Parts: sequence; C-alpha cells; structure tokens
Amino acid sequence: MKRTFLAIIASLLCLTVSAQGYVPTEECLKARQEFNQERFGIFIHWGIYSMLADGEWVQNRKNIDYEEYALLANAFYPAKFNADEWAALFREAGAKYVTFTSRHHDGFSMFKTATSDFNIVDGTPFGRDVVKELADALAKNDIKLHFYYSHLDWHRLDYWPLGREGHGVGRPEGKDGDWQSYLEFMRTQLTELLTNYGPIGAIWFDGYWDKKNDYSYKELYDVWDMEAEYALIHKLQPSCLVANNHHVAPYPGEDIQPFERDVPGENTSGYLTGTKVSSLPLETCQTINKDWGYKIVGSPYKTIKELITLLARTASKGANLLLNVGPRPDGTIPDRSAALLREMGAWLKVNGESIYGTVAGCVPESEWGVSTQNGNSLYLHVLKGTDKIEIPYIDNKIVSAVALQDGTPVKFSQKKKTGIVIDVPAFDESCPDYVVKLSFRKAL
Ligand code: GLC
Repeated sequence: MKRTFLAIIASLLCLTVSAQGYVPTEECLKARQEFNQERFGIFIHWGIYSMLADGEWVQNRKNIDYEEYALLANAFYPAKFNADEWAALFREAGAKYVTFTSRHHDGFSMFKTATSDFNIVDGTPFGRDVVKELADALAKNDIKLHFYYSHLDWHRLDYWPLGREGHGVGRPEGKDGDWQSYLEFMRTQLTELLTNYGPIGAIWFDGYWDKKNDYSYKELYDVWDMEAEYALIHKLQPSCLVANNHHVAPYPGEDIQPFERDVPGENTSGYLTGTKVSSLPLETCQTINKDWGYKIVGSPYKTIKELITLLARTASKGANLLLNVGPRPDGTIPDRSAALLREMGAWLKVNGESIYGTVAGCVPESEWGVSTQNGNSLYLHVLKGTDKIEIPYIDNKIVSAVALQDGTPVKFSQKKKTGIVIDVPAFDESCPDYVVKLSFRKAL
C-alpha cells in the first residue's frame, strides 16, 4: 500500500519535472527563429461544414445529429479545388506559411487516415487527398505547411466524457466512451500528419478549452496527455513547432503563443482575460470577414485598410498575423477574399521589408501609428493621416529618412532637446499604411 502510494508520488514528480524541464532542441529553436521572421500566414478553414455555408460550428450550433451530419461527406465533391491555384494566390499575397484545418471539431479528416473512413479519401466521392495536393503545391512555392488539429470532437463515441460542447448532436452519451482510445486515435493521426506530408512547420491545436469547466488548467495538461502528444510531435519532426489555442499562458512543450482575434496584450475578443504575453514566438489569428468557415450570408469583410493595419500592428508587437479564409464547398476561395489577399500582396511587395524579419519597434504605438525595426532601420507605419510625427530622442544618428513606397526623401530633425521630428509628406489617402524608413548609423 505504502509502496504504491510512493510509486504514485514518484511518478507524479517525474511527470512534473520532465514537463517543466522541456528543453527545445536546436532544430526547434531554429524553427522558432524562422517562424519569427515570417510575419504573415494564411489560415484555412475548410471541411464538409463548408457545404452548409454557415461557419464551422454549424453542427453544434444547430444540433445536427452526428450520423445525419456525417452523410454530408457522401456529397462532398469540391470539383474546382486546385492546390496550385491556391498556392499561387497565397504566394501572391506574400504569405510565408499556410495553416490548414486537417480535422476540425466535427471530426471529419481532410486527409487520408487509417483511423476511420470519415475522411476525404475514403468517405467522399471526391476521393482525393487535398492535404497531399496542398503540401506538394505549397512546397513548390516555398510556402510552409502547418496543421490546425482539433482536440475537441463532435463525432466520435470515444470522445467521452463530453466537455462543454457537442451535447445536442445525438451521440449516445457515455455508451462507448473510452478516453484512452480517443487519445490513441489522436496520436495515430498526428503520426500520419507528420509522416505522410513532408516537413510540417507547426501543429496548431484547438478545442482544449472544451473541458475547462471540469478541470483546472493544470489538470487539463494531464487529461489531454499533452506531455506525450507534444513529445511525439517533437520526436517525429524536431523542427515542427507546437501552438495550442487554449487562451492561457503557454505550457511546457509549446513553441508558439497564439492569440485568437487579438494582437498580443489586448483582449477585445474576450478570450484572453489575463493572458500574459510570453517570450515565445507570437501569432495573432483573425478572419478576413467575420467567420472562419465559409458563410454565404452575414459575414461582412474587413477592408484592406483594416487588414494592413492589423498586419502592421501585429508586427509592431513582434507577432505574426495568421489571416483566415474559408473556401467554398466547390474548392474555390471566395472572390472578395482572393482580391483582398492580392491587395495585401501588392502592399507587401513594396513595403515588405517593414514587416518580414522585423521585431517590435522601439517607438510605442501612438495616435499616428506603430513601429517595427530591423538592424539599423526603424519603420514608422503611418496609419492615420498626419503631417508631423514626434518621437523621443534616440541616441544613434539618423543617416537617412525616406518613404518606403517610392524612396521620396523625408525631412526630419534630431535633437536631444526636442527629440525626433518627422515631416510626413502628403500621401494618397488610399494608401493603407504609409511607411517612413529611418536608417541609423548603428544597429538599434
Ligand atoms: C475557435 C473556434 C474555432 C476556430 C478557432 C480559430 O477556437 O472554436 O472554430 O477554428 O477559433 O482560431
């Protein structure tokens, strides 16, 4: 009895020590650094829910019976899906990586899996592995592939006990529940995803929060057996990063801190109450319209001004922007989304050096805009029309000041007493972010 007790304590201690003692490998650290340079990725929410054109939560929101919902797969035939066209568009947009929903909360796998037929290859008339096609097309375009992967599941019977969601979809509660089998299922799928599709930049988990009413966040780490899951990922692909959209401070084994619908440090979404910004690479995800999955009505788009402002603001906090599009059920990207992505690409083509490879700027966010920096260069992103910018004195001589878009020289003065004053040239109102580049004698 005493022995067993001691053994339990010892194994618990061991667990805590090894979880806290997570030391990222060199490959992982290098991948984190690369990720931190990339600054712009595309999020894709696409699945059989797209056919209902009402977002990716439709099954749960409308309490659609899980067996009836699964029949959607019989009609999923995205005849116009063309991975090369997607990749060309994302490249034109200036994206460095794509995060694809390999399996969302509805439990349908958008890739070939041996775990069940509820997947795009075995369960639809389409029968093609879109993940494979996308992986190949992205690789040709030098764009990395990341996978969104849902912890939460509204389909499987072994997802038991249920958490907060999925109570109205008709599963016989608890009948065949077997949590261990669910955990094993996920590990098998992660192994497939990390074995069959070449190098994967990151696994982006979501749905961990489904069980947060029943457990403390500390307990959740064990309930989901995150230690084993993270270790598996890092073992299969040491340079694959891990992000978990759990809305709290990162756990050991995670490499990216994601912020849902907020730039780091803010909480306009309400998801991030008290969430501290860590020293890990940061990423903000946001929708191009209002929804993640395809929605045919009632999902107003953001303007190009709002999107570029968001990109500049995330970069100014040292974070990447993961911007979501929801493809239609036929496999095409909605026209407005595609047009906005192209406009982002056009702006980035000219102003990209003020975003890619930069770190948070030393000039804090002000009325006029935000700043980023890289080496000797400081970029002032003028987001609101102004003819003068005043920033605190920097003890490092400015050797030139130009407008990034066309090299127009910009007048400035730099004095200890008055700080740095910049005369912003008049610029076209339609420019979403007018960048002034200050070059200094030494690195900032
Ligand atoms: C939320 C939603 C999910 C979406 C995700 C993207 O967690 O549950 O549908 O995929 O946000 O950030």
